[in-house]
Amino acid sequence: MSSVLLTNIGELLADPDLPPLKDAAMVLESGRVQWVGARVAAPQADLSHDLAGRAVIPGFVDSHSHLVFAGERSAEFAARMAGESYAAGGIRTTVAATRAASDEQLSARIGSHVSEMRRQGTTTVEIKSGYGLTVHDEARSLALAKAFTEHTTFLGAHVVPQEYVDDPASYVDLVTGPMLEAAAPHAKWIDAFCEVGAFNVDQARAILSAGAAVGLRGRLHANQLTAGGGVQLAAELGLIAVDHCTYLSDDDVDALRESGTIATLLPGVEFSTRHPYPDAKGLLAKGVRIAIASDCNPGSCYTSSMPFCIALAVREMGLTPAQAVRAATRGGAEALGESEIGHLNVGAKAHVTVLDAPSYVHLAYRPGVPLVSEVIG
Ligand code: NIG
Ligand code: FE
Repeated sequence: MSSVLLTNIGELLADPDLPPLKDAAMVLESGRVQWVGARVAAPQADLSHDLAGRAVIPGFVDSHSHLVFAGERSAEFAARMAGESYAAGGIRTTVAATRAASDEQLSARIGSHVSEMRRQGTTTVEIKSGYGLTVHDEARSLALAKAFTEHTTFLGAHVVPQEYVDDPASYVDLVTGPMLEAAAPHAKWIDAFCEVGAFNVDQARAILSAGAAVGLRGRLHANQLTAGGGVQLAAELGLIAVDHCTYLSDDDVDALRESGTIATLLPGVEFSTRHPYPDAKGLLAKGVRIAIASDCNPGSCYTSSMPFCIALAVREMGLTPAQAVRAATRGGAEALGESEIGHLNVGAKAHVTVLDAPSYVHLAYRPGVPLVSEVIG
């Protein structure tokens, strides 16, 4: 395979934990970063691509999305903006539409959202099931998602579906039994929505334990709408990531720091539900590891844009642009247990996002502007 020299890079953020290199170059070969350094010191390659002073960053790693769905809920969003509050139960609207959709319709929708993400610089995305909520619909959701990512997550415990509302214990039995058995071959991760109106801590613990017993690693939706016990559960189980973390007590923050569980912050959700933004700056100051993800879904947050989430994290959650981009690249990779993405050091996968801007700072400085000019890998 031929090597490619990317040269005349105005700013190269190869390692999101270090300052960027100015006037840089890099060589890509066989899908990997082979060389990184100053433009004037660059080696020869088979092909050369002049980036005319543009900035280069690692492709975004979006570690939380719900792309297997049909229908849309713009009326629910409009009602929220008129004063209604967000509740977990809205998920059931999407469940009905998803069950009624064909495989082809669901696949086409996943594909269009993944392309939309890629156009905005995302090169890796995690995709959850969770709008099927029958054995068949959860298994097919994951089988369809698997064509787009290796990071598929079984979220049969998204909400108790209508047909089980009077008997949630039986639904948990279904999730931990036949549904898990059908879903597991198509999933890498297992997740649960631990929240008032969805699943309580004991149910979430049972679901994640059942998943672990068949080899699925756990992650959790927690503390999105209330300061419940989900974050403590994630820390107790030593999960790699716990997502939302909108409402955190001091004990939750201590538990996150001590466990090393990554708090995946989803600022698009706060934007779209008018909830308060979590204090990302304070979490970092207290030694908590963070990631930023889109949570793209038709209910609580219908954005696929990591640049938008970065801009929100900077403006509303107190992060510097460097911290926000780090959380959206290496942070997301860490939240998925991946070490070869989320940075562009030598040996990393060549997942490269080129910005039509001289610096990555423009992602927050020019919010809402389509700055991604090219995506490689
Ligand atoms: O991550 N919190 C639970 N699940 C989604 C919302 C899903 C929906 O409202 O349809 C979330 O916000
Ligand atoms: Fe979610």
